[in-house]
Amino acid sequence: INKVAVLTSGGDAPGMNAAIRAVVRACAYNGLKCVGVYRGFAGLIEADFKDLDARSVKNLVNRGGTFLKSARSKEFRTAEGRLKAFQNLKKESIDALVVIGGDGSFAGASTFVKEFGFPVVGIPATIDNDINGTDYTIGYDTALNTVVEAVDKIRDTANSHNRLFLVEVMGRDAGDIALNAGIGAGAEEILIPEQDMGRERLLESLSRSKESGKTSSIVVVSEGDQIGKNIFDLASFIETNLTEYEVRVTVLGHIQRGGSPSCYDRVLASRLGVGAIDALLRGESSVMMGIVHNKVISVSFSEANKGDNDFDRDLIRVADIISI
Ligand code: F6P
Repeated sequence: INKVAVLTSGGDAPGMNAAIRAVVRACAYNGLKCVGVYRGFAGLIEADFKDLDARSVKNLVNRGGTFLKSARSKEFRTAEGRLKAFQNLKKESIDALVVIGGDGSFAGASTFVKEFGFPVVGIPATIDNDINGTDYTIGYDTALNTVVEAVDKIRDTANSHNRLFLVEVMGRDAGDIALNAGIGAGAEEILIPEQDMGRERLLESLSRSKESGKTSSIVVVSEGDQIGKNIFDLASFIETNLTEYEVRVTVLGHIQRGGSPSCYDRVLASRLGVGAIDALLRGESSVMMGIVHNKVISVSFSEANKGDNDFDRDLIRVADIISI
């Protein structure tokens, strides 16, 4: 291969810029040309390309978001859209593609490889940490730190007013952010989609907390949790049934996707970016780079998209014990 294209796709994640930088520099190191594609697969279909050399990615390692911009492309889900993308890659004499994104992006990429036999390697970047075959995704660690910092602040005001706060965090269908940030921030309860606690048990647990002398409480609620129709509905359910509680809701939202990446995410992005070019040079395709037991590995897109099954149930036990 002589020329590699790189794009970021799906929801952005802190550390995407560091991953692009690593891909670009690994190309330069190996004497390959590199082209950036703007707005993910949408830019591939519209041939929105920019040549990148080692210096074009300076001052980026510390920046959140993605300078190539990201999108969720509907057109790439159609055969016509993918054909246009393939033709644009051929026209530019591009031999391989690196896709930095989440499972939706890898599903599209996997279809593309099957249709055209075009080499594609993926790099997992999403705050949700919901991809199989890698212990961590780029952006997850930064999001955890953002949530912990926010909950620490909420705790100050919760304490001052003896209030119960429900804090909704992102994660789509995965409870990784809620569980880990909840433990880190000392939440009394953590509601995650992987375990249905049930409303009654939540009430019992909150009553016990009150009886044990707690004056304020933080409950971290994953957005994918099914316990309430939504977090505001859950708040009024608690207030109706436990009148001693004054409840407030904070939805952290997209603040969790922004900010300067943590050192862990920068290093992970650098390792996986270099790993992606190594994999392409070894002739690999239709694989995602991952980190397992602190080693860079590659797994097939189909393995990566199996759904994240390695949820650490022991963490739920730890959360239960330490919130007594
Ligand atoms: O996948 C990342 C994520 O932030 C999820 O946690 C969340 O459910 C979703 O994206 C939000 O998507 P959007 O930015 O399109 O509102």
